Amino acid sequence: MSNNLLGIRELDLDQIETLLAIAADFKVRIIEGRPVPKITDKVVGMLFFEDSTRTRVSFEQAAHYLGLKTANFAAGASSMSKGETLKDTILTLRYERLDGLVIRHRMSGAPNLAARFFAGPVLNAGDGMHEHPTQALGDALTILERKEKIEGLKVAIVGDVEHSRVARSNAWLLSKLGASVNFVGPRTLMPPNSSLLPGRVYHDLEAGIEGADVIICLRLQRERMAEGLLSSSGEYAAMYQINQRNLAWAAPECLVMHPGPINRGIEVDDFTADGEQSAITAQIENGIFVRMASLYWVFGGTVAEVMA
Ligand code: NCD
Repeated sequence: MSNNLLGIRELDLDQIETLLAIAADFKVRIIEGRPVPKITDKVVGMLFFEDSTRTRVSFEQAAHYLGLKTANFAAGASSMSKGETLKDTILTLRYERLDGLVIRHRMSGAPNLAARFFAGPVLNAGDGMHEHPTQALGDALTILERKEKIEGLKVAIVGDVEHSRVARSNAWLLSKLGASVNFVGPRTLMPPNSSLLPGRVYHDLEAGIEGADVIICLRLQRERMAEGLLSSSGEYAAMYQINQRNLAWAAPECLVMHPGPINRGIEVDDFTADGEQSAITAQIENGIFVRMASLYWVFGGTVAEVMA
């Protein structure tokens, strides 16, 4: 049976644990040079309507390790520039017999729409301000490696929560796994309906990160911001930048994370981003293994088959 991966919110604990277990197993196999199960008879469309470095390349790399073929689709060079709708584009790719789709789009819900018109699995690679499920899975794998378990951890998600799909997917995932989540940032960058998200809101950095085991910094997503939400990046940095001075407010071995791309010197200072407590490069690498697990799982792969 095939699955979609549209968001973390609709996954149950069992599905999340399956995805993380498969990813951890694939990681060991790749690092040790042992074989991984192959899916050689399928072609996956890579639809990136928004820019991407990490997500796109790691999905390609994941497909490569699994023996999956990819069909690349550059939105600017497609018939969408001639006015074709998303629905007709998806139908075209369906009747071109693609087996799966990875989709990133600036519109929240675009992958859900795609899933209605496409026959095979659809994976969300980031949709507007809604979800980025594979980023959250990679972040959870990274936290698990460093902290062993997520249950009981205090996680602070700091910055532009309003425009962040990473914040939403991480909040759902980490709270389902038993962590407590704080959202920390200026009032203008908090979602108006934050009470619907699983976390407590803080506007004061010290109160929000006090005793935190993990801090996830978010990028200021200017491309999604209306005018006037932020007085200046300098003022933001003065109040919310994670650096050596304020890391002392968190728990002693607090992990510092950032999904990238980083505005260095704004959300986090260089010393902290490149320092011992940073897990940023591990997040990038683990992105590959959770995307392998996700592709494998949507095409019906199970833990039992991986472990066999
Ligand atoms: C994020 C995204 O695109 O949502 N980047 C990523 O995939 N690692 C975060 C961001 O753009 O700030």
